[in-house]
Parts: sequence; C-alpha cells; structure tokens
Amino acid sequence: MVMAHDHASSDARTAPVAVWKVLGALRGDELKNWRVAPIENKVSAEERGALDLPYPYGWYVLCYSDELPSGEAKPLRYFGKELAAWRGEDGKARVIDAYCRHLGAHMGYGGRVNGNDLECPFHAWRYDETGAVVDVPYSKSIPPQAKRPCGGWPTAEANGFVWVWYHPMGEAPMWDIDVFPETSDPEWTAYDRYEWLVHAPLQFMAENAADNAHFKYVHGTATYPDAEVGFDGHRRTGLVKAKMGTPKGEIDGRIANASIGPGQSWTRFSGISETLLVAGTTPIDRDLVRVRFAFTQPRSEAEGPMAGLARALIRDIVKQFDQDKVIWDRQRFVERALICEGDGPIADFRRWYYQFYAEWAGPEGQKAQAKAAA
Ligand code: FES
Ligand SMILES: [Fe+2]
Repeated sequence: MVMAHDHASSDARTAPVAVWKVLGALRGDELKNWRVAPIENKVSAEERGALDLPYPYGWYVLCYSDELPSGEAKPLRYFGKELAAWRGEDGKARVIDAYCRHLGAHMGYGGRVNGNDLECPFHAWRYDETGAVVDVPYSKSIPPQAKRPCGGWPTAEANGFVWVWYHPMGEAPMWDIDVFPETSDPEWTAYDRYEWLVHAPLQFMAENAADNAHFKYVHGTATYPDAEVGFDGHRRTGLVKAKMGTPKGEIDGRIANASIGPGQSWTRFSGISETLLVAGTTPIDRDLVRVRFAFTQPRSEAEGPMAGLARALIRDIVKQFDQDKVIWDRQRFVERALICEGDGPIADFRRWYYQFYAEWAGPEGQKAQAKAAA
C-alpha cells in the first residue's frame, strides 16, 4: 500500500531510509529494468516459507485488454501453471491450461484461433473455452475423455484488463470485479502503466497496507499514518487522511483504498491531484508475483497547470512500491510474527486474508489460522 507525500516534504523526513541506497543509483531505463529483472542469490521458495502459503482464490489480472489481440494464442504463466489465452472471433477472452491433452504440445506457442476455439499447433485438435476437445480434424471420432471440459478458466474483462478467476478446487467466482467508469472516460487520461516482478509470496504485498511502522523506515514519511482499516467479507477497505506538503503549502490529503479479494485493489488519492490507481497482483509462482499499477487522472488536472503535481504524485507512489520491493524480494514468511504495539492491524489483516487460502479450510488450516491469530 502506498501513502502519498510530496517531494517538498522531504525535509521533514527523519528516519534514515536503508533501501534508498539500493535505489539511489538507478535512473530511467535502469530503474525500469530493475523492476522486472531476476534477482541474484535468490534463496529457495522453501527456505523463505513461500511454500507454506497456497495461492489465494479470487479474481486476478491476466493481462491488459490490448495485450490480447484477436487471432493469436498467447502463452502465460500464473499460479504455477502454463496457460494459453486467446480472443475468439466474438471478441471474448478465453484461457485454458496450455498443455494439449493429446501429446502435450504447448498451445500458447503457435496455437491458432479457429472461430472461438483454440487449435493445437501439433495435430490441430480443437479446444473450446471449457478445455473440451470439440474437433480432431483427421479422425472420425474424438476420445470420449477428451470431450469432457478440463482446464478451462472463468474470465472477465473490466477496467481495460482481462481477468481470470483462480480457485484451487474449481469453485465458481464468488464476487464481481469492481468496475471504474473513469477507466473508459475520455475526460480521464489513458492509463499510465507500471510493472514489477516481486520475488515474494503475494501475501507480503497485501500485508503492507496493515504495516504502519514501515512507512517511516522504508518510505521516509515523517509520521506514521493514521489509517482506518475495515474488513468485510472479501473486501478490505482503508482510509488515510494525511497532511501533504506541496509548494502551495500544506493541504489535507485523502487516500481511500480497497482490496477486493487478493488480486484486485484500487486507491483513490484526493487533495493534491485526483488520481485513481487500479492495481493487479497475480502470482506466477509461490515466490514470484507480477504487479501492475495503472493510473488515470482527470485530463483537466493531468494536462493543465497542475500537470507537474499530478505527475509527481504518480512518481511518488511508484517510488514507494520500488522501496517496498527491495524488502519483499528478500523477506521470509514468519508465521508466528512477533507483533508489537504500534505495528498496525497485521494480525487482523492475516485473519482476513487467510480466508482466501482454500487449502487451509480443513482442520489443519484452521489450526494454522488459530496459531497465526494467537
Ligand atoms: S499434441 Fe496437441 S493435437 Fe497433438
Ligand atoms: Fe509500503
């Protein structure tokens, strides 16, 4: 989670911020490349406790809508699985497990779109969106087993993204994606996009919002944020009211944010410059997550006399994510974290978040939850 502060307030920073050393030397493209580069001396997922955390269920960003043109298959890897995505003739995005059930070709590489179906590049078996084989062009019959749906993923399209629903036991979607009219409003700017590969379990990123003390030591804010946090079913909401230093003096800033399950979150900044951040966090493997930040602002502010401030706000939010990444990339999961007064609602957060670990729903999982909450 991010908390805005303007550059002008940097004089008020009191804590020595260790991670700035790592980032200070990176400029322009170097910094952009650093965000998605592999890391050296990466410790195994097992040693970092990442294998103790399953993939939580929910809606996740698969890609931007414009990254999935019609007519060609796209290879993707998420949730520790190889996937093949395509857009049918009808314009609908579809996703199935990538390996063909015939002889195992990867259909994301060279798979052809045939009508609304996907054709394997090896022997042209044809799959529909449920993962059922609907045609074997050179054979009079389709093996009955192949006709059964298998490996199809529920998809949706909203806010300029293609979304996929993940559930380890194949449960159907349990909630809707939050939709923002601003993302298709011509009065608002086209997305300003940022992307990271974070070498950590997804939970670390979400937990950041409940971690009050780190704002000072990682982000260099002068004070600890005073955040109202709410948990309601699959939603977590937050509201931060903060004084923000600007060249025009101090103003009252407001940062409202929410997570809708583990994969979707948004943040609305008001005060300095109206900004909507739509974020997607999608696990690739247990210790690797792709993060997308997409910003939109009213054109009147982003392109008017306030443009400098509007850009600075985005720069600052992105910088804060860079700072967090330095920690997350090397952090290990501590199940029985030693939480102390002033840390923020980390235990509440975990209690809420653990509902999305479907594998933990059994007796073992409940034990783990009780232990974590203790
Ligand atoms: S491997 Fe896909 S059709 Fe043979
Ligand atoms: Fe942070």
